Amino acid sequence: MKRAKTDELLQWDRDHLIHPMSPIGSTRGIVFDTAEGIILRDTEGKEYIDSSSQLVNVNIGHGRKEVIEAIVEQLGKLQYTTTYWGFTNTATILCAKKLAEITPPGLKHFFFTSGGSESVETAFKIARNYWHAQKPEKHKILSLYHSFHGVSFGTLSATSLGMGRLGKSFGPLVPGFLHIPSYYCYRCAFGLEYPRCQIKCADFLAETIANEGQDSVAAFIAEPVQGSVGMISPPPEYWPKVRKICSEMGILLIADEVMSGFGRTGKLFGVENWEVIPDIMTMAKGITSGYIPFGAVAIREEIYQELQNRPTPFFHGFTYSGHPVGSAAAIKDMEIIVKEKLADNAARMGQYALHRLQEEFLPLPWVGAVNGLGLMIGIEYVEDKKTKAISKKVLAISQKIQDRALQEGLFLRVFGNRVTLSPPLIINKEQMDKILDILKPILTDLPNLV
Ligand SMILES: Cc1ncc(COP(=O)(O)O)c(C=O)c1O
Repeated sequence: MKRAKTDELLQWDRDHLIHPMSPIGSTRGIVFDTAEGIILRDTEGKEYIDSSSQLVNVNIGHGRKEVIEAIVEQLGKLQYTTTYWGFTNTATILCAKKLAEITPPGLKHFFFTSGGSESVETAFKIARNYWHAQKPEKHKILSLYHSFHGVSFGTLSATSLGMGRLGKSFGPLVPGFLHIPSYYCYRCAFGLEYPRCQIKCADFLAETIANEGQDSVAAFIAEPVQGSVGMISPPPEYWPKVRKICSEMGILLIADEVMSGFGRTGKLFGVENWEVIPDIMTMAKGITSGYIPFGAVAIREEIYQELQNRPTPFFHGFTYSGHPVGSAAAIKDMEIIVKEKLADNAARMGQYALHRLQEEFLPLPWVGAVNGLGLMIGIEYVEDKKTKAISKKVLAISQKIQDRALQEGLFLRVFGNRVTLSPPLIINKEQMDKILDILKPILTDLPNLV
């Protein structure tokens, strides 16, 4: 009876739904219906542990009544007014004030959006606009290999991950975007070894800026931990070093905290792991934990002052910039993250998981590397640990790994040859053990999945 309803829904899905980042017309044969905490339930009543927080956005977990009530209350009071032309509303003002309390010092001015791509696109426009009056040729944006910054044209041009290469099929992309090697020590682009490398990848930023000409580069953008590629965390010296380079060379530093923000890395914001303050910081995802689309961009005082002193308005905005319902959801979400000390829990649970992964998973024949920060954890599998080789055959098993996990009741994110763990920040040790206990036999069995 139930199965017939599920099959009918899936047929309507195939008939009418175009899925993002999926082969057109594909469905996975599961219809999610309810969720609570870290558990998802499908229309057949089967339960799955959400080991990825969906798209690494459900930081406070599913089904939190406090946020739902805040949203309903705001809808009853004021469902929408614009923040264009200096108009405002109570919820959006309070949201900006709350953000100013929890973001790193010096970041107290916010522009609101409906999500990550809009936030990053806004950051690029602010960076270019900031330089425009005095140095209009200062427009280039530098970003990292393996990065993901969004799918709109500007953000896709900064993205270098598979999606960036795929971006070519939507080309031409936006001019003025350049990529430099990332900080992934396991596959160092310079063939060096940490720490003897002395963080060559950061120095290469300085070299690139010098080569391109300081007066042509507006900003450098990076994720505190590279998320979409499969969770790659930098060596501790990286961010302080790129901060110094950007300051000395007059380049704006944009920290893309869309995924790493709001407790995910064990601090409220990823850059706080290294006490770095960026010039511009982009946020989304965990800002409302997926209860409603929302995002924000923070800028430093001097950028704010520069834009404020312009004779012309800042000609940028979305219909839903500063949406009151998104604002109300964000306030409640931030309150929960702070009150329940979810960043601390992410740090503790991340360390616990990494310890088990290093002890029990790294010795497995195909597990090449495990790394991460807080609850952004990545496991890289390779056919040959010495050569770190990955063949097309191995890249093709990611869906099999995911399907096997689903069978075992685990919603697992796999990208390329990397399995990632990024559960909601409310996770406890028993739940983390359950995830790892399901995952271990799957990763042990990798050679048989090819
Ligand atoms: C670091 C980063 N920036 C930007 C984005 C784009 O966000 P959205 O999908 O909300 O547009 C993402 C999405 O995964 C992201 O991880």
